Amino acid sequence: MAEKGHVMIMEHPLIQHKISMLRDKRTGTNEFRKLVEEIAAMMGYEALRDLPVEEMEIETPIEVCRTPFIAGKKLALVPVLRAGLGMVSGLLTLVPSARVGHVGLYRDPVTHEPHEYYCKLPEAIGERTILILDPMLATGGSAVAAVDFVKRQGGHNIKFLCIIAAPEGLKRLTGAHPDIDVYCGHLDRCLNERAYICPGLGDAGDRIFGTK
Ligand code: PRP
Ligand code: URA
Repeated sequence: MAEKGHVMIMEHPLIQHKISMLRDKRTGTNEFRKLVEEIAAMMGYEALRDLPVEEMEIETPIEVCRTPFIAGKKLALVPVLRAGLGMVSGLLTLVPSARVGHVGLYRDPVTHEPHEYYCKLPEAIGERTILILDPMLATGGSAVAAVDFVKRQGGHNIKFLCIIAAPEGLKRLTGAHPDIDVYCGHLDRCLNERAYICPGLGDAGDRIFGTK
């Protein structure tokens, strides 16, 4: 995925196995959180495949050599509150020095439109690779609003990571923001009349935080 604007659906059996465990309604909060963290780390590994590197000189116990290190500003993780928070720790295991911003959005239960309540991004956002994190891409309203916000603040090198996407949301996001890369753990069948993903996993925020 060297050029921007690609969609990648994860096919790795480990990711698919863990998503199946997430879907199971018997999976409790503790295990659910752990699975979200593990899936996020595996997706992050793929999404960061094109991070720029630069060669620097170091000395091994054997000899001096030039060897690659990650180049440029530290990347920014931007979870969409609340459920995106569950993905942050998994990505920090890969990149412990990443900066973390937040986009606070909740979906109106009747209109399903997103409402913004708290947004803050790391400084120099325009110089960073930005990973927007949200386990669920349903109607796509929240994802489009999150990317709109990041772009208004000057971000442009944007990747959106979701664990489960509905076709409706994926279409809306790629239509509104054809220049970003989108990584989905699994593409599900459709939305139901309450705009929940089918078969999905239910309300991701409630399952991660044990609310409801
Ligand atoms: C969920 C989810 C997404 C959004 C997806 O959040 O985490 O942000 O719904 O739906 P959409 O694609 O139709 O916008 P929710 O608004 O339920 O808030 P929460 O994470 O605080 O529970
Ligand atoms: N948000 C969720 O948490 N789950 C869905 O299925 C849709 C939106």
